[in-house]
Amino acid sequence: MAAKFLRQSSVPDKLEEKRSAVLDFIEHQKGLDRKVVLVTSGGTTVPLESKTVRFIDNFSVGSRGASSTEYFLKEGYAVIFLHRNRSLKPFLRHFSGYNFLDLLQLDNDNPNSDVKVKPEYQERLVCVLRDYQQVQKEGTLLMVEFQTLSDYLHLLQVCSTCLQSLGRSAMLYLAAAVADFYIPKDQMPEHKIQSSDGPLQLSLQLVPKMLEPLVKEWVPQAYVVSFKLETNKDILVSKSLQALEKYQHQLVVANLLDTRKKEVKLVTRDTCLDITMTTHELSQGQEIEEKIVKELKSLHSAFCSHDEQT
Ligand code: PMT
Repeated sequence: MAAKFLRQSSVPDKLEEKRSAVLDFIEHQKGLDRKVVLVTSGGTTVPLESKTVRFIDNFSVGSRGASSTEYFLKEGYAVIFLHRNRSLKPFLRHFSGYNFLDLLQLDNDNPNSDVKVKPEYQERLVCVLRDYQQVQKEGTLLMVEFQTLSDYLHLLQVCSTCLQSLGRSAMLYLAAAVADFYIPKDQMPEHKIQSSDGPLQLSLQLVPKMLEPLVKEWVPQAYVVSFKLETNKDILVSKSLQALEKYQHQLVVANLLDTRKKEVKLVTRDTCLDITMTTHELSQGQEIEEKIVKELKSLHSAFCSHDEQT
C-alpha cells in the first residue's frame, strides 16, 4: 500500500540532492559518534488541483517539533529537522510573534547610524543567538523542508532509509500532523476548480500509514517514537496501545489537542508515564518538550545499551 502510494504520488523537487545532504550529514555525525534524531514537524497540505490553488490543511504550527529539536540538540543529539515550510523553526520560534523591525533601532541624530537591537530585547536575543551559533559551529542541525503530503512521505522515506546505517543510535520522533485523506493524482483536476460549477463535493482516499514500512523495512533497528493526537481522553491510551501492537515500534507520545502543552503520556507496551507541567513551571516559560526529550534520551540510551549486551 505504502509503496504504491509513493510510486503514484509526485516526487518533491531535488529529491536526490536532499538525499545526498542527509547522507553526508549522517556520515559526519557517525564519525563523531553522535546519536541522530529525525524530528518531523508541522502539518501536511493535501492539494485539490494539480496546478494547486486550493488545498486542505490542518491546525499544526510545528511548535512541538521546533522546541523538541532545541532540547535534543542540548542533550547532545544531532537533529534532522523535517518540517513544513513556514511552520515554526528552532531558535527563530522565540521571535515568531514579533515583526523583526520592531526589535531594532537607529540613532535618529546620526544619518550613518548602525542598526542596534533595542535594549529590552538584548538579553533574550543574545541567549538565543549564542545557542544558535553554537549549533551552526558544531554542524548538528540539518533542515529539510516539505509542504504537501506527498513531499513529506517521500522525504520521510529518504531520511529513514539513510538513518538505517546508524542502527540503534538513530531515533525517529514523528511529531508532524500527517493528513489521513488525500486525492489521488489521477483523480485530481488539473486546473483551478471553478466556483461557477456550483457546490463542490470531494471524495478523499485513505493515506496508508507509513509507520508500517518505516518500522519493518526502512529503519528496522531504530528507536521509533510516534505521536497519537486525540480530542477524546477516553480513547487516548487504548489507541496508543493499538498503534504499538500494530506497528511494533517503541513508544507513543499521547496527547490531547486542548492540553498538549501541559500534559502528555509516554506509552510503551508495558508502561504509561504521565508528564505534566505545573502552573508555576509554565509561568516561568518552561516547556513540556524539555521533560519529554530528557525522558526519551534516557529510554533511548537503555535501548542502545541493550544492544551492546546482546
Ligand atoms: O505542531 P503543534 O501545533 O505544536 O502540535 C503538535 C501535535 C499535536 C501535532 C503533535 O504533538 C502530535 O500529536 N502529532 C501527531 C498528530 C497525528 O498525526 O496523530 P495521528 O493519530 O493522526 O497519527 C499517529 C501517527 O501515525 C503519527 O506519529 C504519524 O506520524 C503517523 N502517520 C500518520 C499518517 C500516515 N499516513 N502515516 C503515519 O505513519
